[in-house]
Amino acid sequence: MTTGSVLAFDLLAAIVAAAGWLGAGATAVAGRRRAATAVGAAALAATLARAATTILLARAGWWFAAEKVVIAGPLLLAAVLVAGPRLLRPAPVPFLFAGYALTAGLLVTVLHGYPVSAGAGLLAVAGVAGATAVTWRFLGSGPVPRTAVVVAVAALVAGTGAAATAGAVPGVPHAHQHRDVLPVGEPTQRFTLTAGTAVVPAGDRDVAAWAFNGQVPGPQLTATAGDVLEVTLRNRDIGRGVTLHWHGYDVPNSQDGVPGVTQDVVLPGQEFVYRFRADRAGTYWYHTHAASDVGVRMGLYGVLVIHPKPVIGVDVTVPVHTLAGVPLPEPVVQPVAAGDPVRLRLINTDDTTHRYALAGAPFRVAAIDGSDLRGPAPLSETAVLIPAGGRYDLAFAAPGTPVALYVDGRMAWSSGPVSAATGGWPVLDPLTYGTAEPLPWSRYDREFTLVLDRGVDLRGLLPRYAHTVNGAADPDIPSQVVRPGEIVELRIVNRSLVVHPWHLHGHHVLVLSRDGRPATGSPLWLDSFDVRPGEVWEVAFRADNPGMWANHCHNLPHADAGMTLHLIYA
Ligand code: C2O
Ligand code: CU
Repeated sequence: MTTGSVLAFDLLAAIVAAAGWLGAGATAVAGRRRAATAVGAAALAATLARAATTILLARAGWWFAAEKVVIAGPLLLAAVLVAGPRLLRPAPVPFLFAGYALTAGLLVTVLHGYPVSAGAGLLAVAGVAGATAVTWRFLGSGPVPRTAVVVAVAALVAGTGAAATAGAVPGVPHAHQHRDVLPVGEPTQRFTLTAGTAVVPAGDRDVAAWAFNGQVPGPQLTATAGDVLEVTLRNRDIGRGVTLHWHGYDVPNSQDGVPGVTQDVVLPGQEFVYRFRADRAGTYWYHTHAASDVGVRMGLYGVLVIHPKPVIGVDVTVPVHTLAGVPLPEPVVQPVAAGDPVRLRLINTDDTTHRYALAGAPFRVAAIDGSDLRGPAPLSETAVLIPAGGRYDLAFAAPGTPVALYVDGRMAWSSGPVSAATGGWPVLDPLTYGTAEPLPWSRYDREFTLVLDRGVDLRGLLPRYAHTVNGAADPDIPSQVVRPGEIVELRIVNRSLVVHPWHLHGHHVLVLSRDGRPATGSPLWLDSFDVRPGEVWEVAFRADNPGMWANHCHNLPHADAGMTLHLIYA
């Protein structure tokens, strides 16, 4: 069983146990003793199941189990000790007490999560004691025990105090001095991108979109390694403003396009000029970073390809996107001559993972996230999963027969008529693909752990159920501070039930391990990688690009709902 499935099972057991004990209590109140015994027995089984999942999760890593062990565990134990002996002689109060205890443990996991806090523990105890006292008042025999009332009040007061004072972290230093554009030399490639509302074709209909130069995706920007790019961004009528972020291309900080961090948002009627030297050949993309969850979904994105000096063979870009529910791009048929080298640049501009499968020819994964892989072996009948924001370059020599690329089972590009069922193909694990190379460093100067979760965020104007990092949501997640030249290790732990495609701006990270198993394939320098539920990724990077950088989940609604922090250079 993977840690991700244990996390899901744990949640299920917690819900069934809490509901079971409450149901057993209600059945006992109704005087149906045999039914109460049966429901109580089921609740006890679910309770023991939660104890088991807690142990399994603690073994997988303290991050997954902390609050279950420290808060939910003692409550669960109390429930078993109080209600267990009454199974055969059902009574409302002990069963309901168990129900409150299991509910409190469930709420601590769902609403609070990691890390454990004294405030959450005390509030959980206060809730259980208070609810038990009230229950006793109406259903118990004799007066309400003093201790229950004292515990409830004391825990409530202490818990509220602890919760109110906890985590008074300094927010992101959103003070931004926009530095001047660095001298990069005379531009050799100039582009203008004008953002505006537009009606564009998608599938067989026209949809309202936000577009660069009236098209979705925006114009493909192509350059050759060594070019100096100058891109003028204009905003015609996007009220929430726009910027350009060069996803995966590590530009100087002032060109990174993060509003409020590296520049001001570009409002209707305004413009901003980006300039940077394109030295790294590879597949990248650009997108707005202003209200990015809406902006990118509505169409403000495009491809950026930097070609190596001599361009060889057939070069195709496949930027996958879902526009108003319609999958893009439209299928393309492009005949290629037998023997021609073909490079398919696959780009995922959506918020969630896509599955790509190439049928009809053996291929290699030549590059991931713009970096060439070392010793990629030929693959056939193998699918690849590309995370949100990620890019894979597939390379092959065109055979004499047609080849087709499928995205989630739908044909997106082909060189002629093919039909293949790719759904059952195995999926490539990039961590074991290609040939290894010794690590480029032997020490780590700094280490950060990011625990991804959900939790209630009460710090804003309105309470929200946020996507959190280490128990906090943007803008309250402490920044990670590094010094130039340091080697930084990042550990990313996903204890939530959904995938988080992680994306650090301005740097590529080298994958060290996943779930404690070292990467054994080609060095993987990524800018976007899926951390699935229950996974622990260890990656590292060299702090060689000074500035203030966004570090966030690239499921953009998650980023918007709190899952964004910043890396800053001291
Ligand atoms: Cu492609 Cu901060 O994002
Ligand atoms: Cu996410």
